[in-house]
Amino acid sequence: MKWLIGDKNCHKFQSTHLLKFIVASEAHPPLAFLRVWVAPVVVRLFDYRADRAPQRTMIMRLNEKTALVTGGASGLGDAIVRRFVAEGARVIIADIDGENGRALALALGNMASFALLDVSREEDWTRVLAESGPIDIIVNNAGITTHGSIEDVTLEQFRHEFDVDVVGVFLGCKYGIANMKANPKGSGGSIINMSSLCGVRAQADLAAYNAAKAAVTHLTKSVAMHCATKGYGIRCNSIHPGVIHTPILDKVLAQVPNPDEVYAGWVSTHPIGRIGRPEEIAAMALYLASDESAFTTGGEFRVDGGSSI
Ligand SMILES: NC(=O)c1ccc[n+]([C@@H]2O[C@H](COP(=O)([O-])OP(=O)(O)OC[C@H]3O[C@@H](n4cnc5c(N)ncnc54)[C@H](O)[C@@H]3O)[C@@H](O)[C@H]2O)c1
Repeated sequence: MKWLIGDKNCHKFQSTHLLKFIVASEAHPPLAFLRVWVAPVVVRLFDYRADRAPQRTMIMRLNEKTALVTGGASGLGDAIVRRFVAEGARVIIADIDGENGRALALALGNMASFALLDVSREEDWTRVLAESGPIDIIVNNAGITTHGSIEDVTLEQFRHEFDVDVVGVFLGCKYGIANMKANPKGSGGSIINMSSLCGVRAQADLAAYNAAKAAVTHLTKSVAMHCATKGYGIRCNSIHPGVIHTPILDKVLAQVPNPDEVYAGWVSTHPIGRIGRPEEIAAMALYLASDESAFTTGGEFRVDGGSSI
């Protein structure tokens, strides 16, 4: 019965292969009964169903949308850019890393482009968004990680962490809203801010990073409330990854004397028994970017293998 269920292409495929069997069976007289009486009826049945079955079409979840992804040249940003392009979006890779950003844009063809943008610089945002035209999706993903406890971290490091991870997201939301409000298609859009599990659960040796990601979490809710009450149709949500295997982790592992131990330590904090993959964060970003999440704003989306349970 499974054979009789399917779409137009599936029935045509079945019918063609049955015809091949009929031709091949000419060489086997005992199969004459099947060839002469049964097979033609079944072929007609498949063809009949093929004519009436719906044509299955690929649904691209971000068709006709334009996205800007900060920090799109590496790691999670790279995975998000690739997934968005695969789902039909035109994507601007916005990063300070021109070499990797341009190479990725080139690899993805005419649906991707690169823009040099330092998220902490206001003039960069105004320039890039003036050149980009209307944007439907902004992923404020660019970030850095400053290691050190409250006793170790210097004021300069703390300020730099906040410049990139908090001021960068603040500017992305502020100028993103202005761009989305002016969209000739009508106001609306999705802003996705990359926080971290560290934005909800603190670690002793990440004082500046913890504080910055917690600020991103709450700024997201403030933006979501503002846009909802103003009726802009702009949603804003945050993603909170656990430890995800990106180049940043490889750099850490290359610097420590006991990489296996450090890696095992990361794994042990994830009840699911492994660390995450960039594609798993891209899948969440895709949901939040698409219209499937139209009723979702101000949310904290943890993709952390159960670390925060
Ligand atoms: N990888 C993880 O385990 C993990 C976990 C939780 C949260 N995050 C967050 O996810 C985001 C991406 O992390 P990743 O692991 O992909 O890191 P990554 O280092 O691989 O990529 C970060 C990208 O941001 C860019 N960038 C840095 N400073 C910038 C600036 N001032 N302006 C524009 N671009 C800048 C870098 O050039 C790089 O391309 C960060 O916000 C990070 O805090 C990562």
